[in-house]
Amino acid sequence: MEFKGLLLFVSALCLTALTSPQDSCGQRPLVGPPGVSRIVGGQEAPEGAWPWQVSIQIRSRHHCGGTILNSLWVLSATHCFYKYLWIGRSHFRVVAGLNVLSAPGDHAQIRSISNVKMHKDYDNVTSDSDVALVLVSSPFSFADHVQPICAPHNVTHELILNFSHCFICGWGSSYFNGRPMNRLQEAEVELIDRRMCNLVTWYGGLVTENMICAGLESGAADACQGDSGGPLQCYSEDEERFYVVGVTSFGEECGLPHRPGVYTRTSRFAGWLKTSQTASASAVHRLNTGLISGLLGAALMLLIQFVITKYHC
Ligand SMILES: *[C@@H]1O[C@H](CO)[C@@H](O)[C@H](O)[C@H]1NC(C)=O
Ligand SMILES: *[C@@H]1O[C@H](CO)[C@@H](O)[C@H](O)[C@H]1NC(C)=O
Ligand SMILES: *[C@@H]1O[C@H](CO)[C@@H](O)[C@H](O)[C@H]1NC(C)=O
Repeated sequence: MEFKGLLLFVSALCLTALTSPQDSCGQRPLVGPPGVSRIVGGQEAPEGAWPWQVSIQIRSRHHCGGTILNSLWVLSATHCFYKYLWIGRSHFRVVAGLNVLSAPGDHAQIRSISNVKMHKDYDNVTSDSDVALVLVSSPFSFADHVQPICAPHNVTHELILNFSHCFICGWGSSYFNGRPMNRLQEAEVELIDRRMCNLVTWYGGLVTENMICAGLESGAADACQGDSGGPLQCYSEDEERFYVVGVTSFGEECGLPHRPGVYTRTSRFAGWLKTSQTASASAVHRLNTGLISGLLGAALMLLIQFVITKYHC
């Protein structure tokens, strides 16, 4: 019985280690803090600049972006899966540590998908609650090119963090209806006040409390198709870390003036992100516990039978 206790303890410990938030997050070992110069319109991202960015692929082709939250979970958008899951999970994969789509290289870590949690309130007309969690089949091993990002704990926390620089990145096309880019692109953007973003001449009320707008008023920097599900990330000078503030959700075409990118506001889903991860972890835990008790029970039966037969002879 002590053995069983120990096993349960060890499996619980492993699950906690795998699913608890990282102490170290939002830091990029290969690239320094954001500089003062602004990149307008986007450019190729330096190697290792966004170590939490992943490519979610269907049949090895880039489909959507995603962001590593911890070794097992990737944040993405529900609209990336909603109409595609009929294809079958086995045709999806997640590639981390990637810069050039056609040449993954030595730093790439490829995982299949064990589970996709889409938000039950996702609205395919308004795009509200466009957030999803992807559970990978085995943990990422963190290295210079593969790191988790930090996520705001709640809306107040998001405001306290006093972000200075925000960036978007992805392999999305550089123009509306274009093909994906081979090299990861990045651009600096500004968070845009929801009231301004909802002006009649902008999105005219389509931007809900669960969304955040970012871009440049001119439209010179914007996310586009293929960037979906990827991060809007902002730097906290105080903590010297990056936080995922948004998930690329939608925009009217790409790079149009007064039509900035619209992102799912992660701080509004902090609770959902937490409970969805622990719900899955405890389901795995229950499964493990059941399995272990089953095995131990069977072993005990064998032992009893052995003792009984022995005494009979
Ligand atoms: C949106 O969802 C509704 C009901 O869930 C469904 O009938 C409709 O076909 C969906 N629309 C699109 C564009 O997927
Ligand atoms: C929000 O998060 C901050 C930072 O973790 C915490 O100190 C605060 O208590 C939280 N507020 C609420 C209302 O949960
Ligand atoms: C927020 O950051 C700016 C510089 O980016 C700084 O001037 C300001 O004092 C900060 N505010 C707080 C409350 O820390």
